[in-house]
Amino acid sequence: MTSLRTRMMWMSILCCGLITTNGIAISSDTKKETVVRGIAPEKVADFVHSIIEADRTVYTSHVVNRMHDKGIVSANEHWEQQNALPLPAQFLQRAGRLVAKKGSGVRYRLISLWPIYRRNGPATDFERQGLEAVTKNPGTPYRGIVKSGKKQYFQSIYADKAVAKACVDCHNSHPLSPKRDFTLNSVLGGIVITIPIEP
Ligand code: HEC
Repeated sequence: MTSLRTRMMWMSILCCGLITTNGIAISSDTKKETVVRGIAPEKVADFVHSIIEADRTVYTSHVVNRMHDKGIVSANEHWEQQNALPLPAQFLQRAGRLVAKKGSGVRYRLISLWPIYRRNGPATDFERQGLEAVTKNPGTPYRGIVKSGKKQYFQSIYADKAVAKACVDCHNSHPLSPKRDFTLNSVLGGIVITIPIEP
């Protein structure tokens, strides 16, 4: 019969040995060298994207739609001048600006080939090509490495689809919108995520 001590010993070997998960090898045994390899930038971008998407969905359904349905407050583009909530797109852009200010080099924006505001148009050829690609093929993010000065960045562009009728109605009727024939599930634009990488 295995004694408690032996079992404890085996447990500690199992717990503290080399654990390898998707390219990351960690050893909590101080005698062994700790190996931490980088996570692929595609994965990092996908992680960041899933967080942005989840926050936007929670804000849209549990704040904007809920408050509107209860007759308490609605979202309006001119929320700063009125008693209104920011639109989900404005919430995302604002949060993105805060992230950029942090100086980590990670950035994200909502962009489009048919932007309500020109500042939300593609800033580079890469972004334009990415928007064209995800408009044709919304299921596949457009990814690549871009250079800015001496620095290299990984960019990933994800399709942003009109998942609700409200997206279609507002983008088709906004006075500044250059396109007015969006339908449900049309690609309205994309979320571009930028991650700094080592040269
Ligand atoms: C009530 C109007 C309204 C609704 C509803 C709305 N948007 Fe927008 N959207 C805007 C405005 C206004 C902006 C510009 C925000 C800014 O940058 O100040 C914008 C920006 C965007 C942009 C960036 C490009 C651009 O047009 O400036 C995308 C992409 C976008 N929205 C997608 C969506 C999607 C997807 C939905 C639905 C899930 C949606 N929008 C719902 C008004 C709306």
